[in-house]
Amino acid sequence: MSDALPTYANVKIERDGGVTFVILNRPEKRNAMSPQLHLDMCEALDWAADDDMTKVVIVTGAGGNFCAGQDLKLFFRANEGNPKAMRKTGAASQSWRWDKLSRFPKATIAMVHGYCFGGGFTPVIACDFAIAADDATFGLSEVNWGIIPGGLVAWCVTQIMNYRDAIYYSVTGDKFSGKEAAAMKFVNKSVPLAQLRETTMELARKLEAKSPAAVQYTKEAVRSVRGMSQDQALDYLECKSNALKALDPEKGREKAMKMFLDDKVFKPGLGEFKRG
Ligand code: ACO
Repeated sequence: MSDALPTYANVKIERDGGVTFVILNRPEKRNAMSPQLHLDMCEALDWAADDDMTKVVIVTGAGGNFCAGQDLKLFFRANEGNPKAMRKTGAASQSWRWDKLSRFPKATIAMVHGYCFGGGFTPVIACDFAIAADDATFGLSEVNWGIIPGGLVAWCVTQIMNYRDAIYYSVTGDKFSGKEAAAMKFVNKSVPLAQLRETTMELARKLEAKSPAAVQYTKEAVRSVRGMSQDQALDYLECKSNALKALDPEKGREKAMKMFLDDKVFKPGLGEFKRG
């Protein structure tokens, strides 16, 4: 297997051990999402999903900003009157920002600094975790230029914000800071900008140390039960548990039980069992 990292026109890949940074890379345009960026992100996430070394993905933006939303010039104006192009880039835009990220088989963290506007909300919400700089600036700016939070943004927002906040920020277009985002639990936490990378890496390292199968099945289970009745969830979770038991290549459950019950070298409540 080659260790060479793939390269893309509008996306950069960096690696730190088992943690892979997938970076929106149009810093001169505040990482506004061009059609090319959407196509690149689709490829980059597919690559990271299959890459054996990648255990955790951090999605962020180059040049001190997360994302200035869709590129008004290249995504909207250039596609006007061209339904084929709109369909192709619209599908790619939807695919990576929600479909691929929200179902990603490994843990994902959005690391947000600087600006995050409009369509940039979707990947933040789709990631399993989000950590922001205190002074990051979030805004559903669609209303400010006469459109609605489309492309699934309004739906994503209602998945994570309470209804009052969702309506307030969608309709006023008011900005909110990383600190405010943490207070409303739009992100897990916010920290001073100087600590953003270190804090995000701390979480990534914690996730990297866990059984990949347990992480994957757990996040899939939590995501899926949200829309289920109690009966459906009970049945589904039993099947999911059995699937993990049967398919976990590390046999984490058996190993951990032996270490706790027989060898007495590990307490599940206090930490992870040693993998490998
Ligand atoms: N689409 C296209 N180009 C953009 C976008 C965007 N969303 N955001 C920034 N740019 C471009 C600017 O046109 C400018 O290009 P230029 O250097 O060729 O003139 C360059 O990026 C830098 O932008 P500035 O405005 O000069 O940078 P500044 O730091 O002063 O402001 C800010 C940044 C606040 C992000 C501002 O550019 C802005 O308001 N952008 C639009 C944000 C937005 O509302 N996005 C759409 C959300 S709705 C949706 O996603 C569907």
